[in-house]
Parts: sequence; structure tokens; C-alpha cells
Amino acid sequence: MPILQSFLDELHQRRETARAGAGVDKLEARRAKGVMTARDRIAALFQAGTFQEWGLHADHDCHNFGMEKKSLPGDAVVTGVGMTDGRVVASFSQDFTVAGGSLGRIHAKKICDLMEYALKVGCPIVGFNDSGGARIQEGDDSLSGYGQVFFRNVLVSGVIPQIAIISGPCAGGAAYSPALMDFIIMVKGTSNMFICGPEVIQAATGQKCSMDDIGSAMAHASVSGNIHFVADSDTHAVQIARKLLTYLPSNNVMDPPHQPTGPVDMSPDPGMNDLVPAGAKDPVDILQIIGRLVDNAEFLEVQREWARNIVVGFARIQGIVVGIIANQPAVKAGTLDIDASDKSARFIRFCNVFNIPLVTLVDVPGFLPGVAQERGGIIRHGAKMLFAYAAATVPKITVILRKAYGGAYLAMCSSDMGADVVYAWPTAEIAVMGAEGAVRILYKREIAAAPDPKAKEAELVAEYRDRFCSPYEAAKKSMITDVIEPSETRAVVAMALRTTLSKRETRPHKKHGTIPM
Ligand code: HXC
Repeated sequence: MPILQSFLDELHQRRETARAGAGVDKLEARRAKGVMTARDRIAALFQAGTFQEWGLHADHDCHNFGMEKKSLPGDAVVTGVGMTDGRVVASFSQDFTVAGGSLGRIHAKKICDLMEYALKVGCPIVGFNDSGGARIQEGDDSLSGYGQVFFRNVLVSGVIPQIAIISGPCAGGAAYSPALMDFIIMVKGTSNMFICGPEVIQAATGQKCSMDDIGSAMAHASVSGNIHFVADSDTHAVQIARKLLTYLPSNNVMDPPHQPTGPVDMSPDPGMNDLVPAGAKDPVDILQIIGRLVDNAEFLEVQREWARNIVVGFARIQGIVVGIIANQPAVKAGTLDIDASDKSARFIRFCNVFNIPLVTLVDVPGFLPGVAQERGGIIRHGAKMLFAYAAATVPKITVILRKAYGGAYLAMCSSDMGADVVYAWPTAEIAVMGAEGAVRILYKREIAAAPDPKAKEAELVAEYRDRFCSPYEAAKKSMITDVIEPSETRAVVAMALRTTLSKRETRPHKKHGTIPM
């Protein structure tokens, strides 16, 4: 026993030193600023006592330009596996108190080993990024380390969910690891992410900007579209990650965590009828419709601040996890533009690869007209949506609420694009284009020659709408499954989800398609 005791003493001493990172004072200084330490973040993510750390004793005697050797506890990153809300999750957390959380050879190896383990066991990975980037003293070893991390981000992509939390700086090439992951959560105030900072931009181009302009959480959430969630604090970021995980399977061969509530409840919800506006041109707030459609009005909206003309996010409908894609008529009249197409195409592909059924709510007048859209490549970007929907083999349920015009109707998952079930409200207008536009093109001369052109135009529009836009016309041609009362929406979608959950669809074998990126 005395011999063992001395070994135990050494073990405990080593553990304590390693866990203290660059020292208790530095850890406390961070906490005093309201910023969590690397280990605090891990503790917030995992159930108490479940985190199994890997590589606590990793170290790399870092030479500062050949001068003094410096110990780097844990090599500036905490890695390991534990239980989050009853599920296995792998996590790494960069320790800014050690060499600014910079990434060197051992640091990269720890992250790579963790990703390979997560791939093997099929569990999600959550990474806390708080780093000065490549460890300058290690030169091209750190560059190579980044390459190895990126390679594994891609290797595991589509097999296990990857969530990046940006808690501190994330500069230069380092930003590409989060960018290769599925979701990025950024903490407001304490984090930034950029390829070239304001000084480099000014030196290279003369353009002046602030870090807030290019690298803040809000800039990425509302302008660049690089991130998916904004958190008010580290604690909030962890809450978002945990909430997100409640909708995701642990890997691509599992189903998402459905919680079916027993037999499908087919009772109507009269409140949904009340949400249909009085006038055909009055905008609907799609978030209100989604709130009524999903369980407990709980909707985890993804990229809420960016491309707000389309709404995407996760919810449950009578217990079944769904990805919702919905036009937002309250913003840009719900048209599809470049950013909306990119946002939804990416979301659709995420849901498809992780077996999450898609529910699409359509109220779309078309693609956004404009020179900037055409020159910006709306053809290429819009094609991403078509591609993503057509390629998706998960259950696809579409509800047409009101407008469903032209190419945008197809881009919102019509039956021709592979929807399994398509419901339309009686207010739906399904047409190659809006009645007014169509009548102006087809009957320009007749309208001009009429004694009362306005009355003639109104008469033709009404006739056109009746003959060509009515959902009953579409139903006659089997383009839709049924016309339903809005109050029936939740019940029929829930039933459609139950009946399509066993869907299996095979496609021709190929490496992958060539999505118009
Ligand atoms: C080594 C680093 C480091 C780095 C910071 N430190 N960044 N050590 N390599 N990349 C060290 C500092 O020397 C300091 O050590 C400690 O971390 C804290 O840094 P401070 O500067 O005191 O902190 P702060 O004022 O908060 O500034 C944080 C920072 C700044 C904004 C991140 O440190 C910074 O600009 N770092 C360099 C960022 C950068 O240019 N990275 C790019 C590297 S190239 P002491 O011992 O004093 O506590 C790259 C290419 C990757 O990343 C390409 C991949 C494809």
C-alpha cells in the first residue's frame, strides 16, 4: 500500500496540474469576466460525472523560437466522451488559457482521434472553438494539423452530426473546421470569426471595417449566413446545442428521436382556420401557422436572422421529428431568392442525410425578380433547392396554403419533385404564374379594346383564377393528394408522417450527384 500511495499521489498531482491549464489564476480571471473556461463548457454540456477525458496528460514542450521550453497542459484542448441528456456525445473544448488555445500537432491529433472515435461509435460531436489559430511556434506542423482536422470533418460529414460552438476567437483558416460542420452556434460579444481581419483587409484593399462588421455573431447570423444560431452566453450556447441534439439521431443509420404519442389524434384544430387572412393579398405570418402545426408550439428555428423570406427549423408533429421549410410571406412577400435557396437547400440535405422527414409549407409568388438576383446567379442557387428536394429520399409532405406559382412551386417540393403527399388548402392557387400576370400577357389586346378595360381585366382574372389556379383543378390532374380545411392540417400531416415513416426509396448507385454549388 505505501508503494501504491506514492503512485497515487503522483497521479493526483498530475491530474490537478493538467486540469488547472495555465493556472488557477487565469481560469478565475476568465470566470470573473463572465466567460467560461474550457472545462466549464464541458461540464455544462455533459451530465455530472459522465465525462471521460482523453489525453489529459498530453503535452507538448513548446519552444518559443528555440528559447525556453514551455509546458502546454493538455496541449490546449480538452477532449473526451460523455452523456448528454442520456445520449453519448463526443466533445473537444479549446483552452484559451494555454497558448491562446492555439492548434499544434498534438492538439490536432487529440481532435482527430476524437472524431474517429465518434465516427466508429456513431455519436454526435460538439466542438468549442476558442483559439488564436495555428500555433505559430509549431510552424507547418500546425498547418498540417488543421488539414487533418478538415479531412476528418468531411469524413464524418453525413455520418454523425457535427456542432461547432464559437466561444472566442476563430480566425483565418481555423474558421474552416466549423464551416465544414453541420451547425455553428456563436456567442454574442465574446466570439469572432473571420478569414482576414480588419487590419489585413485595410492593408490589402484600403477598405475600412470593424470586427463587428465582418466577424461578430450578428454579422454572421444576419449578413453572411455563415452561422445558424446566436447565443447570449456560453451557457446559452450549450443550451442551444443540447436542444438541437434532441431532434437529431446520433448517426445516419438511426432514426431521429421520435416520440410518437400513441394513435394519431385526428381531431381538427379550428384555430388554424382563424389564421387564414381575410384578403388574398394580406400576408400570413408563417411562424403563427407553424406554431399551431407543431407540438406545444415548440419550433427550433435555424438561421432565424438570415434570408428571413424562408423559415427552416426542427419540431415534432404528434411526436415525430420533422424538418420544416416554409415561405414567409411577411418578408419579401415570401419570394425565393439566392440566400433563401441556399438556406433551404442546405437544411433539406441535412435532414435527408439524417433521416428527418420534411414538411414543406408553401405560400410562394415566385422567384424574386431583379438584376442583382439574375447577375448573382439565382439560376444556380435556385437549382440547389430543386436538386436537394429531388434527391431527398426521406418522407416529403407538402401543404400548399395559398400561392404556389411557377418554378418556385416546383422548388417548394411539389408532387413532381417527389413529394409523397401534397395537401392544399381551399385558398391555394397553383399556377404557372399569378392570374393578373397571365391575363395581362394573354389578353393585352382584348383588355385594351374593351369599353371598360379595368372591369374586363378583373373578369378575365377571376375566370383565369377559377380555371387555372384552383386547387380543385390541380386535384383533378392528381397533382395534389387532397384539398383540406386548414383546421385539418395538423391531423392529416401527422397521419401522413406515420404512414410514410417506413418509406424506403432506392436511387441509381453513384458516388454523388453534381449539385449546382
Ligand atoms: C501561439 C498564441 C497564438 C498562436 C495567441 N497566442 N495566438 N500562441 N500561436 N496563434 C498566445 C499569445 O502569445 C499569448 O500567450 C496568449 O496566447 C494569449 O494571447 P493574447 O494575444 O494575449 O490574447 P488576446 O489579447 O485576447 O488576443 C487573442 C487573439 C490574439 C486575438 C487571438 O492572440 C491573436 O491575434 N493571435 C494570433 C491570431 C492569428 O493570427 N492566428 C493565425 C495564425 S495562422 P502568453 O504566453 O502571452 O499568455 C493560421 C493559419 C491556419 O491560423 C490555416 C489553417 C488552414
